[in-house]
Amino acid sequence: MTADVKVAAGAGETAIVGGTGLTELEGLAVVQELAIDTPWGEPSGPVVRGDFRGHPVLFLARHGHPHHIPPHQVNYRANLWALREAGAARVIGVNAVGGITSAMGPARIAVPHQVIDYTWGRGHTYFEQVGDALLEGVTHIDFTFPYDESLRQALLAAAARRQVMAVDYGVYGATQGPRLESAAEVTRLERDGCDLVGMTGMPEAALAAELGLPYACLALSVNWAAGKSDHIITMEEIGQALAEGMSGVKAILEEVIPALKAS
Ligand code: HPA
Repeated sequence: MTADVKVAAGAGETAIVGGTGLTELEGLAVVQELAIDTPWGEPSGPVVRGDFRGHPVLFLARHGHPHHIPPHQVNYRANLWALREAGAARVIGVNAVGGITSAMGPARIAVPHQVIDYTWGRGHTYFEQVGDALLEGVTHIDFTFPYDESLRQALLAAAARRQVMAVDYGVYGATQGPRLESAAEVTRLERDGCDLVGMTGMPEAALAAELGLPYACLALSVNWAAGKSDHIITMEEIGQALAEGMSGVKAILEEVIPALKAS
């Protein structure tokens, strides 16, 4: 079913933004597909409202379904706006990343606690004028802690209950893409304090914060970042780590969604 909605009933569901390797959520029974128009343009696709193993959830494929929108062309503003319009109470972003520091090897899952934004030229704020509309309200949100701590803890507790190893920290360095980094760029990221590098973590986290939506990132390392192994990065290697690690990501989501509903 496809519905053109302006504002759907705010049911307070958890929203999942699926990244590479998660363009659809297995086990999600689609109740409604919401084609939501936003002042910021079109989201990556319809927001799927569904039932995930007995629990209501919202799902949006960040890169479209099938995967066709590169990281620098994702309309992050429209995506987060649409999820809020659909009634999201919180957002979990699932992101494929490269591992920089020793705990973050391929197929490892991490729940980052900080982010550094190296992206540019993306629609990264709601606090700018659209057409003739004047800006209203706060323009400088606090972003000291970019990820919602209780959502992070809920993800880590869900991982523990399912016996999925998940690293409970990580500084996420968000790069522009779509190319991967040079070895020197990764050395610089490491010097800056980054544990992980990915192309989609920002501006998503900041936009969620601007909308007042609790947000956390579930990162799956799919390769050692450039220069951190003895070989160059191949799509085969990424595919393998995705296949290996995605079952853990799905187990965590399965576990966390009912827990969040109850909280
Ligand atoms: N760099 C940036 N983004 C990524 C990587 C990487 O090595 N792997 C997966 N997404």
